[in-house]
Amino acid sequence: MTTTVLITEDEIRARIGTLAAEIERDYPAGEDIHLIGVLKGGFMFMADLVRAMTPRVSLDFMALSSYGKGTTSSGQVMVLKDVDSSLEGRHVIIVEDIVDTGLTLHYLQDILKARAPRSVRTACLLSKPSRRVVDVQVEYIGFTIDDHFVVGYGLDYAERFRNFPYIAVLGE
Ligand code: IMP
Ligand code: MG
Repeated sequence: MTTTVLITEDEIRARIGTLAAEIERDYPAGEDIHLIGVLKGGFMFMADLVRAMTPRVSLDFMALSSYGKGTTSSGQVMVLKDVDSSLEGRHVIIVEDIVDTGLTLHYLQDILKARAPRSVRTACLLSKPSRRVVDVQVEYIGFTIDDHFVVGYGLDYAERFRNFPYIAVLGE
């Protein structure tokens, strides 16, 4: 199985720097921001994003699983690990690796919005708009890519390649 670099480590670092600055600018000074990383894919993006931000940021993680093992996602997700603290009155940002069909994110946004947060926004390192099935709102996107299956920087193929410090396209 071959992998070809699509987005380098340097490109990711630079983009996360501008993304972090954009997020900080969008929220009034003095208001805290609570980031919720989606495991496992979002772990590396989360780690780099929070390091590019100021101490007003706090973080937590969730783990999700799609219902069923079929190839077509129903968009229903099961919460395998929930956040540790209440989201009431807080500015929440979901931190995800990639938005593909958008089904997972759409469902997760609904779950979190029901918990009376002050606001809910979403940050995805990658977006594949050509694959979208639902019109999901993602305020912060690192890179828009074509319809490739990508791995690395948290993203896996059968649990492999998450450790790559860059994004690569999986070949034969
Ligand atoms: P969605 O519900 O179709 O948007 O799928 C989102 C999830 O599918 C992501 O959080 C990833 O875990 C996974 N996924 C989608 N595209 C890729 C890819 O190209 N590589 C690795 N995982 C992917
Ligand atoms: Mg994921």
